[in-house]
Amino acid sequence: MMKIGMACDHGAYTYKEEIKQMLIDEGHEVVDCGCHDTNSVDYPDMAKACADLVANKEVDKGIVMCGTGIGISIAANKVKGIRCALCTDVTMARLTREHNDANMLSMGQRTTGIETCKDIVHTFLNTPFSEGERHKGRIAKISAIEDAQ
Ligand code: RB5
Repeated sequence: MMKIGMACDHGAYTYKEEIKQMLIDEGHEVVDCGCHDTNSVDYPDMAKACADLVANKEVDKGIVMCGTGIGISIAANKVKGIRCALCTDVTMARLTREHNDANMLSMGQRTTGIETCKDIVHTFLNTPFSEGERHKGRIAKISAIEDAQ
């Protein structure tokens, strides 16, 4: 079982609630960074709240959502140490774990169906980083870009 941070903007509140309940039902612990209703919020604020939890290792993984998943993933990736992958299918979810060791997942309520999102979440959480030295070197280069800022 994992401790999972979640955040969304108003455009993905419905999916966040449904996926949060799924994870709780499966025995995971969820830290919900909001939002908590459909009133308008700014996705960068929501992204940062969840990304900080992941970067500080207060949770194992983070899941963020907005209308498209684009804005909230861009914002999450500005936090040092975050590798947030926008996924629209299970193959992307598998490969971003195997190749990129992604520590956050992003999805879009306006662009991906709820059942696909649930499958993406399961694949993302259950796939280990398994591709070895070749990919470790590339991830180290991502960190080097951050360190050079
Ligand atoms: C909010 O209106 C919308 O811009 C947001 O949910 C997301 O799609 C941004 O990328």
